[in-house]
Amino acid sequence: MIEPGGYIKDILGKSGGVSASAHGWVKTRRDSKGVSFLQLNDGSSFADLQIVIEAGSIEEELLKHVTTGACVRVDGDLVDSPGGGQTVELKAKEIYLFGEADPTTYPLQKKGHTMEFLRDIAHLRTRSNTFGSVFRVRNALARAIHNFFQRNGFLYVHTPIITASDAEGAGAMFGVTTLDLQNVPRVKEGDKKGHTDYSEDFFGKPAFLTVSGQLEAEIFALSFSNVYTFGPTFRAENSNTPRHLAEFWMIEPEMAFCDLAGNMALAEKFLKSVIAEVMDTCAPDLEFFNKRIDDTVLSTLDHVVNSDFVHITYTEAVQILEKSGQTWEFPVGWGIDLQSEHERYLTEQTFKKPVIVTDYPKEIKAFYMRSNEDGKTVRAMDVLAPRIGEIIGGSQREERHDVLVEKIVGQGLQLDAYWWYLELRKYGSAPHAGFGLGFERLMLYLTGMKNIRDVIPFPRTPGSAEF
Ligand code: 4AD
Ligand code: MG
Repeated sequence: MIEPGGYIKDILGKSGGVSASAHGWVKTRRDSKGVSFLQLNDGSSFADLQIVIEAGSIEEELLKHVTTGACVRVDGDLVDSPGGGQTVELKAKEIYLFGEADPTTYPLQKKGHTMEFLRDIAHLRTRSNTFGSVFRVRNALARAIHNFFQRNGFLYVHTPIITASDAEGAGAMFGVTTLDLQNVPRVKEGDKKGHTDYSEDFFGKPAFLTVSGQLEAEIFALSFSNVYTFGPTFRAENSNTPRHLAEFWMIEPEMAFCDLAGNMALAEKFLKSVIAEVMDTCAPDLEFFNKRIDDTVLSTLDHVVNSDFVHITYTEAVQILEKSGQTWEFPVGWGIDLQSEHERYLTEQTFKKPVIVTDYPKEIKAFYMRSNEDGKTVRAMDVLAPRIGEIIGGSQREERHDVLVEKIVGQGLQLDAYWWYLELRKYGSAPHAGFGLGFERLMLYLTGMKNIRDVIPFPRTPGSAEF
């Protein structure tokens, strides 16, 4: 029997004088006179286990195949290490070669590859130092997020991935169909004549991959008070930027009996809590990012945890941008959607910390946001972070039935598609609010990585879905 466990992380925590058995992939091999050293890593920690192979202790023919990338098990004696950099090392007595990696073709034979190159070998990049750290941090961040909500009494709800409703009303949805695209059934008569006949499709109507679990989370909030989702979301927008994915993960808390101020307070407390927890649990990985990727990562995270976020309204933000004297690629004026250059100016130049912008013009925000008394703005909030721009988008929701009807119609959306969403405002409506955190955007922030494609295992972007 081979059981899971026996992690290198745990072996590294022991002291010398015991026998041990480790499996993993050879990161590097160094040969000197009479002795070879392997750096063995199984992904359980940033640190490798050093394997010492004394000449004659392992059969030469076998040892030839123990090269960078090979997968092995090493049995031996754990001894206190005389060299710097590690406290213990494993003196090999026996080596089992599970899988060799031909040094003449193994793509990670050498170090120093570009991120672009590594992206093309997403099946192997997970063995590099950088991606080892990225995915350990990703795991720790997911755990910290669940911990935060569970500690605070939020119910975890699994919202659907296939849906008939457009949660953002923005139309950037991937269709889901089993219709034969070579031979699409057509409506035979009536005013829809010639259109696709969705009554023959799997769900009997058009269906899509969800852009957000919010609307369904609202159903649950109006029964369980505080809930959150954590799942994949999909957007068919053709944005080829370092901050956009077609498939990304979103965390969406939704709170009954909560207004915009409460929503902002929760978002700040939440971000500080999860960042602090990851700093606590992934120190060696974050130190690596600080050394190799971006030397401001640690100081920035420290600063975020220990400073208060700035609160400004959209109108104030536009005034700051107008007075800045900057030349913008996208000109600034009341009514424009803030672009990444504007968001970064506010967070990096003006305030030098996260900024929460509220009360945006209703024309540029989704139909479900609560209208303000001025008739022009809605109770929206975007949390903007230095280097990244928008990291969270949220709002207080429109809980008044008649106002919501007007807003749906006013945005040119189909009223009947939202019948159940409207009924929530008819039966036991309550003030409520929530937000969505882009998981990979926060990952960019935590790691200092420059491209969102490098903080998700298998990125989906326009024209690219290989793995
Ligand atoms: O601002 P968004 O569109 O908000 C919503 O979807 C709301 N329903 C959330 C809510 O109130 N429950 O998206 C939320 C966050 C953004 O702030 C951003 O961080 C991230 O999701 N995001 C993306 N991340 C990666 N790639 C994309 N294409 C993204 N689009 C949005
Ligand atoms: Mg947004």
